[in-house]
Amino acid sequence: MSEADNQATDILLPSAEVAVFSRDAETLKNAGEIRHDWRFARVSLDVLEGDVETSIQTYAEREAPDLLIIQTDDINDAFLERLDALSGYCSEGTAAVIIGPVNDVYLYRNLIDMGVSDYLVRPVQKEVLCDVIAKTLVNRLGVSGSRLIAFLGAKGGVGTSSIIQAMALGVSELWGQKTALIDASGGWSSLSVGMGFDPAGTLREISRMVDKGDENGLKRLFVEQGERLSIMAGGGDALLDPTISPDQYERFLDFLMVKSPVVLADLSGAEPVLKKLLISRANQIVLVATPTLTALRFARSLIKEVADLRGGDKNDVSLIINKTGMAKSYEVTPHEIQKALEVAPATSVPYLPALFLGHESNARQILSDKEGLEILKHSLLPVLKKTITVASDGYPDEKSEKKSGLLGSFLTKKK
Ligand SMILES: Nc1ncnc2c1ncn2[C@@H]1O[C@H](COP(=O)(O)OP(=O)(O)O)[C@@H](O)[C@H]1O
Ligand SMILES: [Mg+2]
Repeated sequence: MSEADNQATDILLPSAEVAVFSRDAETLKNAGEIRHDWRFARVSLDVLEGDVETSIQTYAEREAPDLLIIQTDDINDAFLERLDALSGYCSEGTAAVIIGPVNDVYLYRNLIDMGVSDYLVRPVQKEVLCDVIAKTLVNRLGVSGSRLIAFLGAKGGVGTSSIIQAMALGVSELWGQKTALIDASGGWSSLSVGMGFDPAGTLREISRMVDKGDENGLKRLFVEQGERLSIMAGGGDALLDPTISPDQYERFLDFLMVKSPVVLADLSGAEPVLKKLLISRANQIVLVATPTLTALRFARSLIKEVADLRGGDKNDVSLIINKTGMAKSYEVTPHEIQKALEVAPATSVPYLPALFLGHESNARQILSDKEGLEILKHSLLPVLKKTITVASDGYPDEKSEKKSGLLGSFLTKKK
């Protein structure tokens, strides 16, 4: 097995479009069920009743997907000729897999020579289809990594947890990205309050499960909110007991990072060792502070320590100034903040007690509050754009993640 084959068996697949054309009820059903497989969270799968003719008609009018799977009842010269015609409508990046009626080595070689990635004999079981799609996509597009964004507070109470909850709702519901929201604060986590779940899970349980390698147990610790947000239902740890070692937490992250394209971690109440681990591993660090002297003093020291941990680069830290206007005459101005911290705030959020304190037990309200939605869309979410690729219409730009022309593509080989 190649490295891609190995990797394809247990990873979150890259963003891609896949279309299946078949007239066989069983194949259509099996293909449709693939959508429930966690590895396919970022794969958009079109399952269509049809054949090579239908696919030619379809892609004469619109762009072909990354992978086309076509089932055919006859494999003869006429079919090969139509396949050739189809390739004229496909771009370089399109791969093709054929499902046919007979097991024939010569035919198989012929198809492979034509640039077809694989040939399967019907009936095709769901698992086989899953594996073939996974391997083809990984070969073509590579494994694209998930993004970890760590949220850190300059000190307690500045609004880190409020902001990460708003961001998680925004990334999952407004940007449509599958997101995991985790909290390294153990018993000090306030996530269950804002997101409305039972804080039964503990970091201690996680530490036991990673030691046992119990992935199903870990999965059960998550609650789903909407279609794309999974939240670690933690918060049940005793406040004063030790929770989890950095080494165990790192294995928990490894488990999570292949399953969720975006992972947001609340570090506002975490122990320093866990903060350090996540700061080292994160793709981006969001640091929340209020425009007050004490908070900014901590922010300045933290930015230095974070930069040291990450090889001197301050650009990975995005500073959010929260609760501006709360005590106007005592606040440090954005200009002074930039001078003192050598980092320009990425954004600021006004002090809005009705929005934040008023909805402390229901963070989702930010999505239905006019002012809240405005802040989320135009002040908060843009801070994450440097890590999460988003198209200009506000939705993630799937195409930009793709590498095209890897290996011999369907079309290139045929020409
Ligand atoms: N922009 C804001 N305006 C008004 N209150 C806010 C704002 N942001 C957060 N809060 C409130 O501040 C308090 C502390 O917020 P929290 O998110 O728990 O902070 P942290 O996680 O940094 O300790 C909460 O009561 C929250 O509702
Ligand atoms: Mg908090």
